[in-house]
Amino acid sequence: MPIEKNELRRIMGHFATGVTIITSVRSSGELHGLTANAFTSVSLVPPLLLICVDKKAESYPCFSETKVFTVNVLSSDQEALSRRFAVSGGAKFEGVSYRIGANGAPILEGGLAYIECNVTQEIDAGDHTVYLAEIQQAETPHEGKPLLFFRGGYREMGD
Ligand SMILES: Cc1cc2nc3c(=O)[nH]c(=O)nc-3n(C[C@H](O)[C@H](O)[C@H](O)COP(=O)(O)O)c2cc1C
Repeated sequence: MPIEKNELRRIMGHFATGVTIITSVRSSGELHGLTANAFTSVSLVPPLLLICVDKKAESYPCFSETKVFTVNVLSSDQEALSRRFAVSGGAKFEGVSYRIGANGAPILEGGLAYIECNVTQEIDAGDHTVYLAEIQQAETPHEGKPLLFFRGGYREMGD
């Protein structure tokens, strides 16, 4: 029998991760972003990474429409921003400092790193789609501690 959804989420939550906000843009120019920790570095040469996006997310159409996104790696003082982008809808970017990057997706102010990407492959995976993407440009604009997520809660690095 397949494992129950909430139990699977609880178990997966034991794998501590950093937290990102993945920003993108619709072909209409509308900006989108969602909090995400299903993010993995894949290849150094060529530079590839992957993200997994819920098919029910409002930002979901961005990735097949414009095929661009930016991974914003959050610092420990960006928990409120993470919470804001983890809720569907609303004016998520209102009052948020950002600039538009070379690929057209927003780069959020205050993150530890940002990674601008172009989607190269979409893999249908149950209730999510895996987007494999080529990294176009990346920077680490700020020093600081990362925002962490573990067992369903936000954490800060202990040292
Ligand atoms: C810590 C954390 C990690 C998350 N990781 C992902 C993820 O990797 N992929 C995803 O599709 N949703 C993820 N979510 C849920 C989305 O942030 C949430 O569904 C959000 O409302 C989507 O925004 P949208 O509907 O405006 O696109 C995560 C939420 C949290 C709090």
